[in-house]
Amino acid sequence: MKKIGVLTGGGDCPGLNAVIRAVVRKSIQYDWEIIGIKNGWKGLINGEMELLTDYSVSGILPKGGTIIGTSRTNPFTNKEDVQRIVENIKNFGLDALVVIGGDDTLSVASKLYKIGISVVGIPKTIDNDLSGTDYTFGFDTAVSIVTEAIDRLHTTAESHHRVIVVEVMGRHTGWIATTAGIAGGADEILIPEVPFVIEDVCQRLKDRYSRGKKFSIIAVAEGAYPKAEDFPNTNNKESSNQNIGEAGLITQTEEKDAFGHVRLGGIGHTLAKEIEKHMMVETRVTVLGHVQRGGTPTAHDRVLATRFGVAAVELIKDENFGKMVALQGNKIVHITLEEATSKSKTVDMELYEIAKLFFG
Ligand code: F6P
Repeated sequence: MKKIGVLTGGGDCPGLNAVIRAVVRKSIQYDWEIIGIKNGWKGLINGEMELLTDYSVSGILPKGGTIIGTSRTNPFTNKEDVQRIVENIKNFGLDALVVIGGDDTLSVASKLYKIGISVVGIPKTIDNDLSGTDYTFGFDTAVSIVTEAIDRLHTTAESHHRVIVVEVMGRHTGWIATTAGIAGGADEILIPEVPFVIEDVCQRLKDRYSRGKKFSIIAVAEGAYPKAEDFPNTNNKESSNQNIGEAGLITQTEEKDAFGHVRLGGIGHTLAKEIEKHMMVETRVTVLGHVQRGGTPTAHDRVLATRFGVAAVELIKDENFGKMVALQGNKIVHITLEEATSKSKTVDMELYEIAKLFFG
């Protein structure tokens, strides 16, 4: 009999509970015990755990969030925390860990594997930016939420003859903006992979107006930034509350999290001011924020999360550690944690070219 620890780290994401349920149910088949580690790496450092049974995962499949909690704790900022993790794995008798997370959480898993911990990973993020997997679970749900928002924004933008800028998540990549932008028929999509020129954006919108379209929807990823270094107004703290972070990103505060990330947000408002100035058209901003991460997962995400959970348990059965389960085509495969976390998976430019056909 094995004793397996499972944890969820980083930002929450629809489908986490579906994975936890699948891990527990598949493990029960092997007569293994599953220990839920609370609040990501923090719970492993502090020894906060609970037994997960068939009963405790009953009814959680459609539930958003994570029943075991999450945090953005990075144990590698402090040698003692890594030591405590190693000791707790031993003290609690954990034979292996199932780590459900995005690039930050899985990069910790990869480092732990290198120091001898038996670990397997499952790719989670609404941003869909993990390498080696076509999709992460949570992305489909976020895209559905954003698409519905864009549909709704269309009717109000049209009635008031306004430009509406919708700011969506996507720190390093614009998967959500591009996919939901195509699905919702956005008239412009701005993503971190393609720095924009405000004059060009406005010119496309003006062309649209000259064709008789008196409203526009712009989808912008929070990590999008302008090509020109001196984007007007952005570092004028009197006229705007935003800060300029590294690489010209627009941020809410200058504080960084345990993984060195600044809190993004503000590009939508900055953009809106510029559009109003260049076009003299009334512009409004909708920042979707954490709504994109909350609530019940789509059927697609529930199925993907379930397949990932089952596959992760199979990896442990085969003692195939240091791996992350992944979706390639329609098959569940595995790749090394190192490969998965080595770089972000950026938006497929063929997809972005399709989106561009509908700009303006
Ligand atoms: O999980 C990634 C992400 O969705 C990013 O797109 C976003 O920048 C970040 O989470 C914000 O998360 P939080 O507010 O929880 O730190």
